[in-house]
Amino acid sequence: MDLSYRLNKIAEKVTINGIIADIGTDHAYIPIFLYKNNKIKSAIACDISKGSLQKAIDNISKYNLQDNIQTRLGNGLEKITLQDNIDTIIIAGMGGMLMIDILEKGNIIANNIKELILQPQKDIDKVRQYLHNNNFKIIDDEMLKDEGKYYTIIKAIKGKEENLYKKEEYIFGKFEIENKSEILKEYIEDQVYKMEIVLKNIKETNIQTRILEIENNIKMYREVLKCL
Ligand SMILES: C[S@@+](CC[C@H](N)C(=O)[O-])C[C@H]1O[C@@H](n2cnc3c(N)ncnc32)[C@H](O)[C@@H]1O
Repeated sequence: MDLSYRLNKIAEKVTINGIIADIGTDHAYIPIFLYKNNKIKSAIACDISKGSLQKAIDNISKYNLQDNIQTRLGNGLEKITLQDNIDTIIIAGMGGMLMIDILEKGNIIANNIKELILQPQKDIDKVRQYLHNNNFKIIDDEMLKDEGKYYTIIKAIKGKEENLYKKEEYIFGKFEIENKSEILKEYIEDQVYKMEIVLKNIKETNIQTRILEIENNIKMYREVLKCL
């Protein structure tokens, strides 16, 4: 089974020989890949959507891994219990705020695992902040580019971060800044370029013309209103 570069990188971060819960598993590619490559003992693949979980069930059956990878339909961590003895929770490919909500609602489970592997699609700064506020220490934080898109993968364990991050470290990741990451450099250059275009467009828009345009529209709309 060939994983995308992003999924491969997520799989690479998992500490070997544990029991994993993949929340929002969809196709279940990560647990299947990890099990087939002897990286984990077993897995629980969870999803809130019946359709997604069916994809997972079909793929798990295709590789005949039903005894090794369980599937559970549910919201976030609600179907995971302490008796599952999860070592690693993986949550990838969803928004950061949803991820925070899942960790918050399932905090009893999240506080009893060895590591979190998170790949938030947005609000990444808020995820880093949440981890620090909830006694998780970020031990790995990598940005990568796959098929033209930038992704960040964060690995965290229980523990207090002694030196809280500066604002820019929450936004871009402390390790990437310290490591002078080429990908981060490219990403920031790309963002600055886009912001400069937006700024230029704003500056070039003549406010008076825009006001006149809106006034004329209101006039026209009122005229139509009279006929109704
Ligand atoms: C874009 S897919 C990501 C799949 C896979 N984790 C990956 O990174 O390629 C997001 C999946 O998360 C599931 N999902 C969304 N909200 C969820 C929640 N609250 N609990 C569990 N799964 C959820 C969706 O049904 C969908 O299958």
